[in-house]
Amino acid sequence: TAQPSTGRADDKEKVKELLFDGFNESSALGKDGVSIVSIVGQGGIGKTTLAKMVFNEVKEQFGNRRWWVCVSEKPNRMGLMKKICKESVRELKGTTSLSDLCTRLRSKLSKSKFLLVLDDLCELDGWWGDLAAILLGGAKESKILITNRKVEVSQAIGAKIHKLPQMSFDESWSLFLCVAKKQEHELESHHLKRIGEKIVAKCDGLPLVVQTVGSLMGTKMKTKNDWETDEK
Ligand SMILES: Nc1ncnc2c1ncn2[C@@H]1O[C@H](COP(=O)(O)OP(=O)(O)OP(=O)(O)O)[C@@H](O)[C@H]1O
Ligand SMILES: [Mg+2]
Repeated sequence: TAQPSTGRADDKEKVKELLFDGFNESSALGKDGVSIVSIVGQGGIGKTTLAKMVFNEVKEQFGNRRWWVCVSEKPNRMGLMKKICKESVRELKGTTSLSDLCTRLRSKLSKSKFLLVLDDLCELDGWWGDLAAILLGGAKESKILITNRKVEVSQAIGAKIHKLPQMSFDESWSLFLCVAKKQEHELESHHLKRIGEKIVAKCDGLPLVVQTVGSLMGTKMKTKNDWETDEK
């Protein structure tokens, strides 16, 4: 999906606020500790995309100590630890055991502040305790940004939560035009704007759906009849 990200300005600000100014809240981790922020919402609503936007905008604060780990499948302890180490520690020659990985990771994280994204963290299954101890023992002012679908998981972790809402109609419409590679006036001149708007309204603010529909429509810029068929 090489589509540029659109919209989500408010959500991006909100997540950054939670990351950087959220200290006043009753965070068990205290002012300087490592804090966890989670973007929660249903599949295809744009959590990963939003996390990427934030990730790209905090280069100044974290430099190359920004690590992106895609968790996805139900993680097992060793597998996830390896993934995190691969991003952060990098040089893993000679490490064989879990305890070895833990030691290296702990030392890496304590050096200076970092941002770790755990994208699509779906289940915890008891392994979180060990890992959390290592992550939360990292350098002060470090941040962990999580995306997941279930609010319960984020609550269990003690994350500050941003529930990502559906895209507004305007955001969906811009995304649709962008993906379909169409200008609004082109649609108007083909009498397709109204139908286009109806189609976008049916996408329910889910960018994944807008994108799928938009690219379909884009490839067949065609007659009003075709779009009317699609609308049904
Ligand atoms: N703000 C946006 N601008 C443009 N495209 C977007 C935007 N948000 C999401 N998309 C597109 O919608 C699709 C789904 O987005 P994304 O992968 O971020 O959803 P998600 O919430 O992480 O889903 P999942 O729960 O399955 O991981 C992607 O193809 C992405 O490119
Ligand atoms: Mg995702």
